[in-house]
Amino acid sequence: MNQNGQKRILAPSMLSADFAHLEEDLLKAVHAGAKYLHVDVMDGYFVPNISFGPPVIKVVRQILPDTVLDVHLMVEQPERYIRDYKECGGDILTIHVEATKHPYSVLQAIHAEGLKAGAAINPGTPVEQLIPLLRQCDQVLVMSVNPGFGGQSLIPETLDKIRELVQLREKLGLSYLIEIDGGVKLSNLDQVLDAGTDIIVAGSAIFGKDTEGGTKAFLQRIGE
Ligand code: DX5
Ligand code: ZN
Repeated sequence: MNQNGQKRILAPSMLSADFAHLEEDLLKAVHAGAKYLHVDVMDGYFVPNISFGPPVIKVVRQILPDTVLDVHLMVEQPERYIRDYKECGGDILTIHVEATKHPYSVLQAIHAEGLKAGAAINPGTPVEQLIPLLRQCDQVLVMSVNPGFGGQSLIPETLDKIRELVQLREKLGLSYLIEIDGGVKLSNLDQVLDAGTDIIVAGSAIFGKDTEGGTKAFLQRIGE
């Protein structure tokens, strides 16, 4: 449970899944109990890497009809793609405040499509940039690594942003969930949870040699 008495959520990140056996690997995580799948979309422009887009997500939606698809858009001008990511099966769309001139309006557009909306900040972006957007956010995402690649180390200072967002939520009487993304391992999970994180993204620490065991180990620790 988090400070609000809400259940914490694990969102395994598909970026680290075995793409040669995608269906099998994703099903292992879901059969082990994961309710969310974190889906990293990268455009090679907002971040240096390119991942996948709507056609792949559409297949994932078919494989996992009941899983919440938590789509993290690491793309410039995400406003161009809201409808596309709804149609391929996204449930939650998170955009970066650094990627658009009009983040408030993009969050409204996501809600207008009947989806949940999130705003994300990179490690170099202060929480202040999220403040005017918080009333439009179902969740906020704190990048705990520089976006673009799985398997990096968590930047410890980013945990202060989680604590700041917990305080702001209380002060403003809001109920957004706080998500952390990048470098989360079983070895630093206690610090991540103590900071007040609600949604834990983990890629390389879950997918790999033992996806089922990794998922179960995280779920047990976060008490989902
Ligand atoms: C990085 C992505 C992350 C990534 C996390 O840009 O947003 O979601 O998959 O991977 P790990 O858990 O390996 O750091
Ligand atoms: Zn992500």
